[in-house]
Amino acid sequence: MIQLTINGKPARFDGDPDMPLLWYLRDELALTGTKFGCGMGLCGACTVHVNGEAARSCLTPMREAAGKRITTIEGLSAAGEHPLQKAWEACNVPQCGYCQSGQIMQAAAMLKSKPHPTDQDIDSNMEGNICRCGTYQRIRQAIKMAAGVRA
Ligand code: FES
Ligand code: FES
Repeated sequence: MIQLTINGKPARFDGDPDMPLLWYLRDELALTGTKFGCGMGLCGACTVHVNGEAARSCLTPMREAAGKRITTIEGLSAAGEHPLQKAWEACNVPQCGYCQSGQIMQAAAMLKSKPHPTDQDIDSNMEGNICRCGTYQRIRQAIKMAAGVRA
């Protein structure tokens, strides 16, 4: 029995401890905001927070999630009012949208440790999150808006 916390609520899992956290979130809890992209840690679409740090849920087996606090895009702000979510909307960031929850979760973790990120901070923290639609400039703009940094 694996016990963990998902978006502030206790949860449990009785299945294969090697199963990726991503499967658990999407298939068992129907938290489908977290996306499957590559399944190999190469795209960032599956990014969630594990104890407040950005993590690739496709590469996180359930055994490693045991006892941890997991936050998904659905739990970042119940009303969608996280500063990044507001900035994303104001900057019209998404195109197809597929990568965007991972982008926001990655950026949210960065802003905890770097509340006023430089361009280099943004580049180094976000480089593993791929956007096939090429929304990178708007992502940068929105991160800066959320951080109160002049774009
Ligand atoms: S699906 Fe996890 S990094 Fe691509
Ligand atoms: S908005 Fe389409 S992949 Fe990023």
